[in-house]
Amino acid sequence: MERTLVLLKPDAVQRGLIGAIITRLENRGLKLIAIKFTSLDRSLAEQHYAVHQGKAFYDGLIAYITSSPVVAMVWEGPDVVALVRATMGATHPRDASPGSVRHDYALQVGRNLTHASDETQTAAVEIKLWFSEDELVDWDRANDAWIYEGE
Ligand code: RTP
Ligand code: MG
Repeated sequence: MERTLVLLKPDAVQRGLIGAIITRLENRGLKLIAIKFTSLDRSLAEQHYAVHQGKAFYDGLIAYITSSPVVAMVWEGPDVVALVRATMGATHPRDASPGSVRHDYALQVGRNLTHASDETQTAAVEIKLWFSEDELVDWDRANDAWIYEGE
């Protein structure tokens, strides 16, 4: 089953939105595989956002993501990468669809609350960066047959 990395960024934590955002993922039927509450050091931040190095917003992004604790999670489900990106909404809250997290809770791109892997390949790399293999919990969910067809 496909997996993705989700971060609740420092603004989500400081604003008390951890529960509200996790509830949206649970309500969709996605399955939580791993979760930790942690502060990033600069090295992890730079590795996580290596693709953005050199861009105009890079320094601000690293300062933002290391400014306060984050929640890091792995979620599982069919097409979970695309599903979670849709639930979070477009990068800039101005462009995010109504009903998405970034539309409903955010205003500016530099305070857009969440991260979610953008492709399955990126997800695999990011999950390895944030979690060790033994932190990924493979568990049976009692209501899977009512969420996944053909179970
Ligand atoms: P993320 O990686 O955090 O899930 O966000 P994303 O894929 O939707 O957007 P991405 O292009 O990967 O950008 C990473 C984060 O950098 C900040 N950003 N600021 N000022 C700007 O123009 C700008 N562009 C991007 C955002 O916090 C974005 O989530
Ligand atoms: Mg991204």
